[in-house]
Amino acid sequence: MNDTNQRFSPIAVELEKDKKYSWCTCSHSNNQPLCDGSHRAEKATPPLTFIAEEDKKAFLCTCKLTKNPPYCDGSHKN
Ligand code: FES
Repeated sequence: MNDTNQRFSPIAVELEKDKKYSWCTCSHSNNQPLCDGSHRAEKATPPLTFIAEEDKKAFLCTCKLTKNPPYCDGSHKN
């Protein structure tokens, strides 16, 4: 694994059923993979908001290339 892959590897998050999450789509957040509001100052894309359907550990995308947001689909390896 090279530095690029490590930097953009997915981050495991323990999702809680029925809880709302804001997944960062702009890459500016300092709280990856979740939004910290930085997109406003950067005039970048807003977060993708989703509600967890169940309690589960999920690997959320940080490279922002996934075709299945907010979840990692392995695109960071390409
Ligand atoms: S900081 Fe990236 S979407 Fe909000």
